[in-house]
Amino acid sequence: MFDSIRVGGKDKPSILVLGHFKGEGLDKHSAARDGQGEAAKALTRGEATGDLGAIAESHPGTGFARIVVVGLGEKKSLDLAGLRSVGAALARRLSAVKGGVVLIDLDGPFKARRFKPAEAGEALGEGFGLGAWIDDGFRGSATKKPSRPGVTLCAGDRQVQGGLERGLALAEGANLTRRLSNTPPNIATPAWIAEECRAIAKKAGLKMRVWKGEELEKERFTGLINVGKASENAPCMIRLEYTPAKSKKDARPLVLVGKTMTYDSGGLSLKINNGMKGMKRDKDGGCAVIGAMHLIGTVIKPDRPVVALLACAENSISDEAYRPDDIITYRNGVTVEVTNTDAEGRLVLADALCWACEKENPEAIIDAATLTGGVVVALGKVYAGMFCENDRLRRAVEAASGATGERVWRLPMHAEYRDMMKSPIADILNSNPSREAHPVQGAAFLSYFVNGDTPWCHLDIAGVHAVEGPSGLFAAGPTGWGARLMARVAQGM
Ligand code: BES
Ligand code: MN
Ligand code: ZN
Repeated sequence: MFDSIRVGGKDKPSILVLGHFKGEGLDKHSAARDGQGEAAKALTRGEATGDLGAIAESHPGTGFARIVVVGLGEKKSLDLAGLRSVGAALARRLSAVKGGVVLIDLDGPFKARRFKPAEAGEALGEGFGLGAWIDDGFRGSATKKPSRPGVTLCAGDRQVQGGLERGLALAEGANLTRRLSNTPPNIATPAWIAEECRAIAKKAGLKMRVWKGEELEKERFTGLINVGKASENAPCMIRLEYTPAKSKKDARPLVLVGKTMTYDSGGLSLKINNGMKGMKRDKDGGCAVIGAMHLIGTVIKPDRPVVALLACAENSISDEAYRPDDIITYRNGVTVEVTNTDAEGRLVLADALCWACEKENPEAIIDAATLTGGVVVALGKVYAGMFCENDRLRRAVEAASGATGERVWRLPMHAEYRDMMKSPIADILNSNPSREAHPVQGAAFLSYFVNGDTPWCHLDIAGVHAVEGPSGLFAAGPTGWGARLMARVAQGM
């Protein structure tokens, strides 16, 4: 959409953006900006419905070359989520008019709604950044790429402008997640993910460590070894660490765990009926954790340590593949009977959860995973499934979710579900042949690898990590779900 998005600077704006509520004209402050009454004239046109993100324009002869008047919806219902939508609508419109230097002045409406200027600017900037994202990195010579303009955003109010800048930076974290998600499995192998992490760690000032080959054996990461062994793209465990400049003594880290399956063919329990298409996105939990760590190191900079663990593998088939009937033993001693090699995500997450509990002394653990098709059946693409039995952590996740608009819905996790995972021969099995409560089965399985007293939240993002068509802030494709949310939790907890 845009070649670059800048904030501030000395160039004279050629585009003015004003706003109005549904059924209302310009407020006093906006009318004062509208020297020649051109914006007011635009509001008499049919397209000026006042609906959230509806746009009407005028082209004054002098002053600004273009005035964009954007609808803000009903005055009583405009909130920060609405401002994100407005930001996305502006991004789409400004990209169509080939960018330029844009002065956004919504100060009148902000005041009417009593928004804090910095927060309002941030929501607008975040929506703009998310709405502006496109990925044409894989277009080739058979596609004529449209020219991509640059855009500079300014605001009259310094705090709003600071907010715009921060919002754009937050969107950048989610957009990083989206780019990784989009990268196809012939390129985005576990080794490629590690290289990307190396570059991001350098930029964001994170420490990094990778276990692969014999190192996986040494640490008994049995899930990764087994799930990954059929692929020529060898599995790895990646650890990223953010250390605050001034840390409280004995501060315990928040640990973020991501399922990073670079491709999920199902393994020997092969996916059928075109169920495989799209499984390049089975790494999106890990990609969200990477986006969150980028934000934590560059924007949020919380005063608590944060550790990320990415369990990376490709679930493929060969004569060396792990099989249904195999029994594997984890580093915490739990034995697992494999009943279905397509329930692979929980097997690799188990390695990371064991490690986190044993080695990281975590304050809390959050994992993000495209774990089950069942969660999509249950909640669609609206909410991620959340499993969290710790009230304090759940409140922190819900608060972050309320702030970023990445919605979570709590699902249950009682002893009866844990019992469903019992195996007739080993401790547990990785998938109960019954079709009941699939998303809960996944969470129940994982619970066998988390110490009972460690606050833990499992997010099943199989529904929300991507959309098929344009939806809200997002164009078709990956949404970057979880990057902003997890970064916020690190900030607020
Ligand atoms: N990666 C899939 C889950 C998935 C499905 C993600 C659809 C995104 C969209 C996961 O590894 C899987 O295959 N789950 C199985 C579990 C079953 C075999 C227990 C499923 O949900 O069908
Ligand atoms: Mn699978
Ligand atoms: Zn999977």
